[in-house]
Amino acid sequence: MIKAIVLYNSRGGNTKEVAEKIAEGLGADIKDNKNIPDLNEYDLVVVGSWMMMGRISIGGSRYLKKLKKRGIEGKKVALFFTSGGPEEVHWKTENSEHPRKLKEIMFEQMEAILTRNKQVTILQERYYCKGAVRMGGEVKDNEGCPTEEDLERAKLFGEQLKEKL
Ligand SMILES: Cc1cc2nc3c(=O)[nH]c(=O)nc-3n(C[C@H](O)[C@H](O)[C@H](O)COP(=O)(O)O)c2cc1C
Repeated sequence: MIKAIVLYNSRGGNTKEVAEKIAEGLGADIKDNKNIPDLNEYDLVVVGSWMMMGRISIGGSRYLKKLKKRGIEGKKVALFFTSGGPEEVHWKTENSEHPRKLKEIMFEQMEAILTRNKQVTILQERYYCKGAVRMGGEVKDNEGCPTEEDLERAKLFGEQLKEKL
């Protein structure tokens, strides 16, 4: 039996909700970015964050960078995130004249941080969903997201990871 953990940072609660469902499906431990344990005892680390200003959130970027010190080296890693935009949205980026899909940008950033100076195996299995956008305590967009269906899909994602490993 493999031992897995789901890690996340979340400001408004969307990414946390999704993380909890993935952990449920996977039968994994779960910790937020402030409580990351020694990862040596885990075979699979599922890493999640949310999108802020067209990039991974600052809290997400910070904790991903610290994972080497926690022993992520040599582990299998699966990625997920939530954002205000739909996955099909195309963004113009500084490095590219060609617009890129939001999902591509975010997963690429997460992967770049996680593999910089570290040997980790990033799995192709990934999860994304839209999350309600909260500003000043009010929901400004995507009311009701993640939806029940998104959360069911998150649980299924966890179950599929378990089966695969
Ligand atoms: C300050 C701020 C900036 C955001 N910037 C983006 C963005 O650039 N692109 C996007 O798709 N969503 C953006 N969002 C939406 C969040 O990614 C989305 O609401 C996410 O689900 C929040 O996750 P959380 O509830 O776990 O904090 C932004 C939200 C906030 C609060």
